[in-house]
Amino acid sequence: MSLENKVAIVTGAARGIGLAIARRFVMDGAKVVIADVDDEAGEAAAGDLNSLGEAMYIHCNVAERLDVRNLVAETLNAHGDINVLVNNAGIVAGADFLDLEEDDFDRVLSINLKGAFLCSQAVARHMVEKVESGGAPGCIVNMSSINSVLAIPNQIPYCVSKGGLSQLTKATALSLAKYGIRVNAVGPGSIMTDMLASVNDDPAAKNRIMSRTPMLRIGDPSEIAGVAAFLASEDASYVTGQTIFADGGRMPLNYTVAVPDED
Ligand SMILES: NC(=O)c1ccc[n+]([C@@H]2O[C@H](COP(=O)([O-])OP(=O)(O)OC[C@H]3O[C@@H](n4cnc5c(N)ncnc54)[C@H](O)[C@@H]3O)[C@@H](O)[C@H]2O)c1
Repeated sequence: MSLENKVAIVTGAARGIGLAIARRFVMDGAKVVIADVDDEAGEAAAGDLNSLGEAMYIHCNVAERLDVRNLVAETLNAHGDINVLVNNAGIVAGADFLDLEEDDFDRVLSINLKGAFLCSQAVARHMVEKVESGGAPGCIVNMSSINSVLAIPNQIPYCVSKGGLSQLTKATALSLAKYGIRVNAVGPGSIMTDMLASVNDDPAAKNRIMSRTPMLRIGDPSEIAGVAAFLASEDASYVTGQTIFADGGRMPLNYTVAVPDED
């Protein structure tokens, strides 16, 4: 098993892509810490995963420095080590550019981008200390998006946060390379989770997604978990500073804007 006895923190893992990653990591032999703000769903997820291996839940708002400090301390207390961090927690706040509220902009950036910074710094400090005392380096996986490169006009803070996360991935990878600590990102396309659930009841929205998805289907969270598991494993031992896009072919696609009929 590729993550046998590794200790992995996955943020935002009470549901969706984070939960799929937590499940995959447990199946690959890791001891997983689910960090989330939804205590009920987080406890339930940890309970379920305990039937497959080892998982625990810790409450953590990734945007809060003290919560993050507590997450690292409690994980070290329980397991004595942290080998893998997945910065997956993320939210959206849709609004047209001219109507977007400052609070919504701040909220998305503080969770999606600052949260990844706070968690990465706190965990990397432990990882570096370990390397300096002769231990093995760990790795960090950030949950980016195709919207780190592409953009949606009414999802401004989200796109900005994911663009920032791409640069955070590169800069952190360069800073930590000398310790052997790897930092990469996964860039999902459209994946069927609560974040995308509204699309199920909206044929026009589904059509819009399909028209930009050469594989003609929405992705499953387990297909993102597979990429995260690769990046967290020794199979990716020479990969750092990269974003791997798992998007059914959307990024390479040119064309498709609905053009009104001329008459
Ligand atoms: N679903 C998609 O199509 C898609 C596509 C590209 C990228 N992503 C990214 O994948 C990640 C997971 O998305 P998802 O679709 O599973 O979303 P989701 O809404 O299903 O789950 C997000 C989880 O994050 C938790 N969370 C929210 N705020 C938090 C905070 N402050 N601290 C800790 N946890 C918090 C939520 O409680 C929830 O459990 C996000 O970063 C998202 O941007 C998703």
